[in-house]
Amino acid sequence: MAAPNPDTWWRSAAIYQVYVRSFADGDGNGTGDLAGVRARLPYLAELGVDALWFNPWYLSPMADGGYDVADYRAIDPAFGTLAEAEKLISEARELGIRTIVDIVPNHVSDQHVWFRAALAAGPGSPERELFHFRPGRGENGELPPNNWPSQFSGNTWTRVPDGEWYLHLFTPEQPDLNWAHPAVRQEHEDLLRFWFERGAAGVRIDSAALVVKDPDLPDAADDDTTPYVDRDELHDVYRSWRAVADEFDGVLIGELWVPDPDRFARYLRPDELHTAFNFDFLARSWDAAELRASIDTTLAYHAPVGAPATWVLCNHDVTRTVTRYGRADDTGFDFAKKRFGTPTDLDLGTRRARAAALLSLALPGAVYVYQGEELGLPEADIPLDRIEDPMHFRSGGTDPGRDGCRVPLPWSADAPYAGFGAQTEPWLPQPEGWAAYAADRQAADPDSMLSLYRAALEIRRSGPGFGDGPLTWLPSEPGVLSFTRTDGPADGLICVVNLAEAPAGLPGHTSVLLTSGPLDDEGRLPRDTAAWLRA
Ligand code: NOJ
Repeated sequence: MAAPNPDTWWRSAAIYQVYVRSFADGDGNGTGDLAGVRARLPYLAELGVDALWFNPWYLSPMADGGYDVADYRAIDPAFGTLAEAEKLISEARELGIRTIVDIVPNHVSDQHVWFRAALAAGPGSPERELFHFRPGRGENGELPPNNWPSQFSGNTWTRVPDGEWYLHLFTPEQPDLNWAHPAVRQEHEDLLRFWFERGAAGVRIDSAALVVKDPDLPDAADDDTTPYVDRDELHDVYRSWRAVADEFDGVLIGELWVPDPDRFARYLRPDELHTAFNFDFLARSWDAAELRASIDTTLAYHAPVGAPATWVLCNHDVTRTVTRYGRADDTGFDFAKKRFGTPTDLDLGTRRARAAALLSLALPGAVYVYQGEELGLPEADIPLDRIEDPMHFRSGGTDPGRDGCRVPLPWSADAPYAGFGAQTEPWLPQPEGWAAYAADRQAADPDSMLSLYRAALEIRRSGPGFGDGPLTWLPSEPGVLSFTRTDGPADGLICVVNLAEAPAGLPGHTSVLLTSGPLDDEGRLPRDTAAWLRA
């Protein structure tokens, strides 16, 4: 396959997700920051990723880890300054790494000037029209205006002292914006320009399918999400965003929870978003038929719109990969299944995560790596009195929330707080034994997860057959996934993943490029192991 066209880098990119708060602490105060990221850019370059996606780094009261933005044009002081963000973007670019910022159009922080003005201005004011304010139901307006369920369990309406209610699909600190209002649309197009002008190469769009609401805000029947999910009017919004992005060759990436593949693909038409996260793949069990079905559907529904697929194993919202794949029920994204004390077999999970890494890096399209995945970090148990995630509190304490995948990274085994950089207790505690996962220790171990990721990304970057392009299944035993990444016979890549109990023979090849674990004495691929071969 030819070297990637610089204009279409996003069709094949390996994108590393940086959760700034937990990546590296540059000033030692216990919270990760931009100085920490800048100091670790050489690590990211050596890892071999093409782009960084930063979770929101803007001014925020952190009611939802920064997804409650008070000012998009300012960096939160806990992370640094706007000037530092600009430096970071250009320093990364010099190392060949692009930057993707996170925009959260569905809601703002309750501390955003717009919302403060709306509260102060009172019912019937133009300021309130930027949000969804409504009188309540019931004799005295004491009941919420409709019955919509929250994405985070609990209520979606909060009453303010003058008696009106406002809508928030997430926490009360995240009031939903009214996208029928032209000022809301204008502001977001200006924001896109603001960040593209500062060198961002792409934008990740948070909760992209929830943004537009049925203007009547009608009650929803059980399971009916049509008043607030995947509304047809959204396509018009993203078409205007695309026009802005095109001015800068910028890329739009949707966080789209739209289970119907046809409806999902509509967002990826040539004049809308460039790509979207493939949550279907993330939600599948470690099972050959399941994964193959997900791969086939993904490729089938992306093809007609000409968009590349993406592959995601983990992010800041879900259970870490090695923990998930070590569980009896390893489906990915059902928050309801997050429970305290769910048993896991970390050796098994790690073996599978290694194989899954080679699988996802070999599939056609772009791939995401969430910070710490390259270290094989497990989900951490956070002591109850240290949990910060509002999901935990809104579940009435039954759901541990998402902090367990957001723990500060271990960089050096022998340094305090495993080299996170903190001189004081980090914002989330690192579990015992965290130092064993430290990057410095893994860099020195050829069998570590880090060495596997480095080797795989290096081969993926420099060799033919990776990224965007066709996939052809090869005949294989049940429980074995085997495919090649070229149409023609010459120097194609073959990826084989054995999810069956019995060892699998390898298809004909000229060389073994990489395996996720040792082959057996007869040169066969053991269970839960993947291999990359040259045809
Ligand atoms: C999706 C983000 O990934 C998640 O972390 C956040 O809580 C919600 N959107 C609300 O912004």
